Amino acid sequence: MALDEERQALVIIDQTKLPGRMELLSLTETEEIHRAIRLLQVRGAPAIGVAAAIGIYLAARKAGNGGDFYERFMDAKEYLASARPTAVNLFWALDRMAAVVTAHRELPPAEITALLRVEALAIRDEDIAMCRAIGEYGLSLIKDGDGILTHCNAGHLATVRYGTALAPIHLGHERGMGFRVYTDETRPLLQGARLSAFELVSHGVDTTVICDNMASQVMKNGWIDAVFVGADRIAANGDVCNKIGTSGVAILAKHYGIPFYVCAPSSTIDMKIAGGGDIPIEERGAGEVTEMWYREPVAPAGVRVYNPAFDITDHELVGAIITERGIIRPPLADGLRQVMGD
Ligand code: MRU
Repeated sequence: MALDEERQALVIIDQTKLPGRMELLSLTETEEIHRAIRLLQVRGAPAIGVAAAIGIYLAARKAGNGGDFYERFMDAKEYLASARPTAVNLFWALDRMAAVVTAHRELPPAEITALLRVEALAIRDEDIAMCRAIGEYGLSLIKDGDGILTHCNAGHLATVRYGTALAPIHLGHERGMGFRVYTDETRPLLQGARLSAFELVSHGVDTTVICDNMASQVMKNGWIDAVFVGADRIAANGDVCNKIGTSGVAILAKHYGIPFYVCAPSSTIDMKIAGGGDIPIEERGAGEVTEMWYREPVAPAGVRVYNPAFDITDHELVGAIITERGIIRPPLADGLRQVMGD
């Protein structure tokens, strides 16, 4: 993901086309960026935040030099924030960009816009550094040859580079370590089968795709030494909101005595939310469950469908939260308070 300065565009890989086609999209309009986030052309909590930061910078450039610059900026911010409700990185990045505008309100719009460019690029670069640090901490918890199970895609594609849950694997692989990675296909949008498998296989990592309902069996077989997942929002008590199906994996891991680790940058921790029950969970269209990916619908027309995109893993099931600031062990509420300085 990058800012194309020449074309003044946000450049992303269209993740809806993977693994079949690697297509780059060059987005210049705020509506296009909103749509790309809503349709999951760009997805994964950190990636959404970076896309929104670059998107609001581009919107500010378009807002021009008029007296209504502040209002136009805030309208664009609100609009981009409405693209998806769960991943807090979206709001975190937009709030960070808005803080620049508010702090320099007396400056001419062109100067504020220049500062917004610097901030958007800082958010992008910091994401790489945070993911690398998460990778280092995560790597300290596993050893060469380990079997790792992951859910959804929290890798390169979900961030600017490295990923969160896949960062330890990518870093270890770069250093010549070998892991056996099992990736849940991740129904209904198949981020595991399409995206995690794509990026792991392209990097030469030993990868096995399993259907979501096979996780118990691979754990029972003794093939899994640790579970690594990402997060879309972590509440102050350590409850973790992540891709639908994550909480089931955590319950299974507890049953089989396998450590369950959550990897996320501090920008995913929302200390304003006391517990997971207060996190807004996105519900998506029925077609994702009944017909997307299939030649013919797999359920009768008009049947009621429940399609929550995320679930909450109770903090008691989480062995550690791995952030760029260190590894937080239970009691998670105390650790999160210390790390976040609240
Ligand atoms: O709906 P998605 O594909 O955006 O959901 C993504 C996830 O749930 C990821 O696990 C999470 O954002 C962490 S990405 C580093």
